[in-house]
Amino acid sequence: MDLNEIRKERERWLGWKNIAPLRQALDELEEVESKLLLGDVVKVVGDYPDKEQIHNTAKMMMPWRKGPFDIFGTVIESEWQSFKKYNLLRPFFSLKGKKVADIGCNNGYYMFRFLEDSPKKLVGFDPSPLFRTQFDFIEKFAKTGIVYEMLGVEHAEFYEDKFDVIFCLGVLYHRSDPVTMLKQLYRALEKEGEVFLDTFYIEGDEEMALCPRSSYSKIPNIYFVPTIKALEHWCLRAGFSEFEVLRTSVTTPDEQRKTEWIEGESLENFLDPSDPTKTVEGYPAPRRVYVRLMKKRKEKR
Ligand SMILES: C[S@@+](CC[C@H](N)C(=O)[O-])C[C@H]1O[C@@H](n2cnc3c(N)ncnc32)[C@H](O)[C@@H]1O
Repeated sequence: MDLNEIRKERERWLGWKNIAPLRQALDELEEVESKLLLGDVVKVVGDYPDKEQIHNTAKMMMPWRKGPFDIFGTVIESEWQSFKKYNLLRPFFSLKGKKVADIGCNNGYYMFRFLEDSPKKLVGFDPSPLFRTQFDFIEKFAKTGIVYEMLGVEHAEFYEDKFDVIFCLGVLYHRSDPVTMLKQLYRALEKEGEVFLDTFYIEGDEEMALCPRSSYSKIPNIYFVPTIKALEHWCLRAGFSEFEVLRTSVTTPDEQRKTEWIEGESLENFLDPSDPTKTVEGYPAPRRVYVRLMKKRKEKR
């Protein structure tokens, strides 16, 4: 696969008519001295001369799904309180000196947070020109050197580096062939690499998956919602030798809610108003499972 051809084609997506004005607004921003502060709110601090320009540029880039960010005092209250997922996973990984990929990285919120561990290299994969533009907005001031590729999970195995650690969060249920996706992650890893993954799941001991007719929780492109057992079997069939459940959680309006930084609806509109244990489609309400997958079993001492 010629990734350079795909990259060139995707760079052209930044010229689409809904993206081009955002790119222009980005180019018009001044270069100023600034500092990146890492915490639940990812902050860029410094003395930007025109605060309104920052605010207006950020507003043009809506919807902001992941965050929050504070860019020179403009607080971007994203739909998701992404620090909840980050803090849940934080005790389980160590990235110092490692090559790390975040596949489905959105605007890079987690990648900025990963910098606290000083990875050797940090690469984000996400084909969305809007999320790439949000990333570029922050990176323009943060100057972290994180690499953002407008490539998908389907390209990761052909990437010039293999990765020690891959995060692939909230992507599996969007793929119509989940086992193929897991194999793609497996092939993108170094020999002893590990994957951190989360996905929606349904409760039950059997190896089964829910196949929504057309949407799940009003999300149109959800193909399979497995039991944890079914997920384990997918992962083992993809070649992983270890499957470890780290945590499970139920998404609440504390974590996902409508803010002024998104248009349209959020979690409260996706659940049945008379029974919040169900989605509007009548399926079990979203639950997430967080797992660690190992490419090769660690030697037991
Ligand atoms: C539900 S969001 C999850 C974002 C983030 N990883 C998280 O867990 O908060 C799914 C992300 O996958 C991205 N995406 C869409 N198609 C993709 C593909 N083929 N490969 C990788 N990511 C993809 C979307 O642009 C979006 O940012």
